[in-house]
Amino acid sequence: MNVVDIIRKKRDGGTLSREETEFWVSGMVRGSVPDYQVSALLMALFLRGMSDEETATLTDVMAHSGSMFTPSDLGGYTVDKHSTGGVGDKTTLVLIPLLAAAGLKVGKLSGRALGHTGGTIDKLESIPGFRTDLDRSRFLDLVRRTGLALADHTADMVPADRILYELRDVTATVDSLPLIVASIMSKKIAGGAQAIVIDVKTGSGAFLPRLEDSRRLARALVAIGAKLGRKMAAVITDMSQPLGRTVGNALEVREAIETLQGRGPEDLATLCCELGAELLVFSGRSPDHGSAVATLRALLADGSALAKFRDLIAHQGGDVRVIEDPGLLPQAGDSIPVSARAAGTVRRLDALSIGRAANALGAGRTTKDDAIDPAVGVEVVRKVGERVEATGVLAVLHVNDPKNLTEARRLVESAYDIDQKGAPCVAPPLIVERVQRGS
Ligand code: URA
Repeated sequence: MNVVDIIRKKRDGGTLSREETEFWVSGMVRGSVPDYQVSALLMALFLRGMSDEETATLTDVMAHSGSMFTPSDLGGYTVDKHSTGGVGDKTTLVLIPLLAAAGLKVGKLSGRALGHTGGTIDKLESIPGFRTDLDRSRFLDLVRRTGLALADHTADMVPADRILYELRDVTATVDSLPLIVASIMSKKIAGGAQAIVIDVKTGSGAFLPRLEDSRRLARALVAIGAKLGRKMAAVITDMSQPLGRTVGNALEVREAIETLQGRGPEDLATLCCELGAELLVFSGRSPDHGSAVATLRALLADGSALAKFRDLIAHQGGDVRVIEDPGLLPQAGDSIPVSARAAGTVRRLDALSIGRAANALGAGRTTKDDAIDPAVGVEVVRKVGERVEATGVLAVLHVNDPKNLTEARRLVESAYDIDQKGAPCVAPPLIVERVQRGS
């Protein structure tokens, strides 16, 4: 077999076999297939597309390109959740202790922020002392003993995705549906979950803002995961406005703790219970969606999920006192309000602009080596459908370095559209659609 024949076959519209896929992926990881051949193949895959069978094979081969976890490594019914990324999306911080409190095993491998969307690793690292660089045996031991652990993707897991992602980024082949699906699902498969729920965001702050694209992605993720033997659900959820009321790492940890204490924003609590319910039903612990949601609501209300979050912080070296005293989280030097120019009702609150404002203040990264400031960000005081008085506060900027303050303020002001005529302004539905397939 040789790579030129594989490229030619794909260029001419053929379908790659498992042997051919294994040949080029393993050659790429070993370094015997050079970047220029992989780049040519990526363009052929991009232009010609891939069948479901081909995508599932690529996903599986990528998942096996490095070390993996299996359900027996994790010691119970193993579940995972993935979000396609959003603004103020701190769901994982609430959902994984909630799932562990329900008796499921959650060994979560997560990423850092890039662009206008946040990353769970950065959020957790804003807790003083919290470590996400767990080695394999510590990670597995924590999942087995306590039900949950959260770590950074290690270099030895899914190396094929790292190489491919870097090449896609510089060859205009990122936005290929099968390549996106293989990238996301190979990491989930390598993580060892038996059941996976994907939160596919839609709206301005989402990676794919248009509903028809979110729907295509959700269906493809579910189909490929199911082909590989996982129980799969995807929930398409609103990201036209930020989730909850905070955007920025430490601010989001504080809001997640409040949610685990039963006094957080309702949209966040609802989303966590809706996503978690899919996994609880798959595990057989709840007979149907409604009773699963009720079980999860009860675990939030009685403090069980909060206790698991405390365990997570303690076992990963963090300062558990942040739960009672959020003042121990990094705090920005200044809090600067952004006020309304006239009284009215919020008609639109653009998630993308708020995400960009938080980044301008230093909460996120433009390139993967940028440093972030855990303390800064944006608090949205008013959301869609809520009333504001003339000169009332719409949002608060949490600022350390005033360098980009003017830009952040401009972005937040432009994010809000206020109706002054009393027209009805209704918040968009949080749960847009569900896609599910048990294997
Ligand atoms: N997220 C991923 O992990 N990979 C992609 O290709 C796109 C989004």
